[in-house]
Amino acid sequence: MTDDALRFGAIGVIGAGRLGASLAAALRAAGHPLVAVASARLASAEALAAELAATPVEAPPVEALTVEAAVARCDLLFLTVPDAAIGPLAAALPWRAGQSVAHCCGAHTLHVLAPAAARGARTGCLHPLQSFPTRTGDPARFRGTTCGVEGAEPLGGALEALARSLGADVVRLDGVDRALYPAAAIFASNCAIALLGAASRSWARAGLPLAAARPALAPLLQGAAANAAAHELRDALTGPLARGDTATVAAHLAALAADPPAHELYRRLALELLALDPPALDPPHGAEARARLVALLAAARE
Ligand SMILES: NC(=O)c1ccc[n+]([C@@H]2O[C@H](COP(=O)([O-])OP(=O)(O)OC[C@H]3O[C@@H](n4cnc5c(N)ncnc54)[C@H](OP(=O)(O)O)[C@@H]3O)[C@@H](O)[C@H]2O)c1
Repeated sequence: MTDDALRFGAIGVIGAGRLGASLAAALRAAGHPLVAVASARLASAEALAAELAATPVEAPPVEALTVEAAVARCDLLFLTVPDAAIGPLAAALPWRAGQSVAHCCGAHTLHVLAPAAARGARTGCLHPLQSFPTRTGDPARFRGTTCGVEGAEPLGGALEALARSLGADVVRLDGVDRALYPAAAIFASNCAIALLGAASRSWARAGLPLAAARPALAPLLQGAAANAAAHELRDALTGPLARGDTATVAAHLAALAADPPAHELYRRLALELLALDPPALDPPHGAEARARLVALLAAARE
């Protein structure tokens, strides 16, 4: 941080839900002065404050406040509320000059916070590219996560430093297409769950117990994600497509024909794998094998 970097004396989290719980826990664990949590229902804020108080961290006490009181008390507020609630809160709350407010939504630009900016507040965004599935705060969930950060200086730099202090990496979102950016996140996160749905159907149709599908298949997904995190996509790929094994892929397509959505998913995703750049199949026979596989998959179109 440079000397003119923005520093915060009192941080608040508005929205005691899934992201709010983990963000609050992570801020506290990293030594930031989180002093207030607020939510639509005071009971949610009180439950989060109690959870934080039960965590063995040397940190100032966190009060459960009304949303208005949190805004009056803090100089940096995170809005971890549903996307549709960000604009109404930006318009309704008594923001003031010198205060900072950041939303955590990948799909919104800073335009949604324009009413707060009009009252003199600095506005920003800190969007973790991570899923937070429960209201149990997990401070470690930011470690190794990339956070999208947006904001004019000095707030942009301060949010970037704050994200890094939680163990996160940062990409700056200023000027980024805010429909395609979350679409990329949905592909990598939600769509992987959809793939497990299709995989579980094939598993059960193969004669295996459906209840065993998720525990057996999710570690495969974890392994693929770990491979992709460590290597270029072409080097992370294993299996018949990486080997150019046309006969095995033809057998899979035939077996999946009775489940048309799964058949089409397999076919489309196999084509996507064959279109990786750099390609997944090595020379000298790679181009030939790829052409054979592409022809097989194109012919299998329903
Ligand atoms: N969860 C994730 O995986 C994830 C990941 C990245 C980014 N985000 C972003 O984080 C934000 C929150 O998502 P979430 O999944 O954490 O949502 P969530 O679990 O539904 O939590 C939202 C919280 O906001 C509170 N709330 C709703 N309307 C409010 C209002 N008008 N004023 C004050 N509090 C209000 C709710 O209150 P009560 O509990 O009091 O009813 C709830 O505690 C969204 O912008 C989302 O895009 C989420």
